[in-house]
Amino acid sequence: MPPDTTTQPELGPDQALLAREKRKLIRDITGAAGDIHREVNMLTIEHLTKHYKGSEKGITDLSLHIRPGDIFAFIGHNGAGKTTTLKCIAGILGFDTGTIRVGGRDILEDSMGCKQMLAYIPDNPDVYEYLTGIQYLNFIADIFRVPADLRRERIGKYGDAFEITPSLGDLVSTYSHGMKQKLAIISALVHRPRLLLLDEPFVGLDPKASVILKDIMRSFCGDGGAIFFSTHVLDVAERLCNKVAIIKDGTLVTSGDMEKVLGEGESLESIFMEVTGQRDCISREIL
Ligand SMILES: Nc1ncnc2c1ncn2[C@@H]1O[C@H](COP(=O)(O)OP(=O)(O)OP(=O)(O)O)[C@@H](O)[C@H]1O
Ligand SMILES: [Mg+2]
Repeated sequence: MPPDTTTQPELGPDQALLAREKRKLIRDITGAAGDIHREVNMLTIEHLTKHYKGSEKGITDLSLHIRPGDIFAFIGHNGAGKTTTLKCIAGILGFDTGTIRVGGRDILEDSMGCKQMLAYIPDNPDVYEYLTGIQYLNFIADIFRVPADLRRERIGKYGDAFEITPSLGDLVSTYSHGMKQKLAIISALVHRPRLLLLDEPFVGLDPKASVILKDIMRSFCGDGGAIFFSTHVLDVAERLCNKVAIIKDGTLVTSGDMEKVLGEGESLESIFMEVTGQRDCISREIL
């Protein structure tokens, strides 16, 4: 007898729980209970323009779409506009024109709603120096109203993974750059955001911590989260990310699926040099 394809196979208890959680996540993001099949971007940027006062520098007409599950690399030369873009999305910088939506919510109309869904880690981990590591993490967990048992579990898990648990009782002022970076990453994960914005997250991390961060990024996006991060480490971006955008002087020059952008056998580094028009300059300088 041919198999019955008209009915769904029965789910085991774990799968059923997972399916329920996924439906809940999508419902929360869309804000439309029951409308679980609606397609929604985790981050939508449309025609974003932000120029600094009295300057031509900034971002011009940038449009990007990031979906749940995407690990999206944002690359560009020094001063291209990556940090500016990330700060606009995080709600730290205002912008001139355009739209930014997080999980379908407009950042100007519902900035609190957007901020509850995202976490931003700046390129320079500015963590309060007069707090201990654990006080800082509890402060962030308090802001996002993370229940005590969940925060203990997450701080324990990520603190142990980054081997920073024994130092959490020390003042942040005694931390190295890499330790502050680890603390900032844990603080971003403690409230389970749906969108992670990371500005050059691998800078200052030792090799083991970089491997752990990459594993965390993959698992975060595997669970339906999305990551938009800037980096100059192109080989990491090439291996880690399914999407990429390249900007030059505040303007998008290419974006899309990593595989398509790479094309046939090209490396991200060579594509980057090509599309930003820097390949010839380097050859000339070396010669
Ligand atoms: N506060 C500011 N006032 C004026 N201009 C600024 C300000 N911050 C940044 N800029 C300018 O805006 C442009 C984009 O800067 P941004 O920091 O976004 O670049 P970036 O791509 O993050 O560079 P990097 O790779 O060096 O971190 C640069 O030309 C920079 O000089
Ligand atoms: Mg920057």
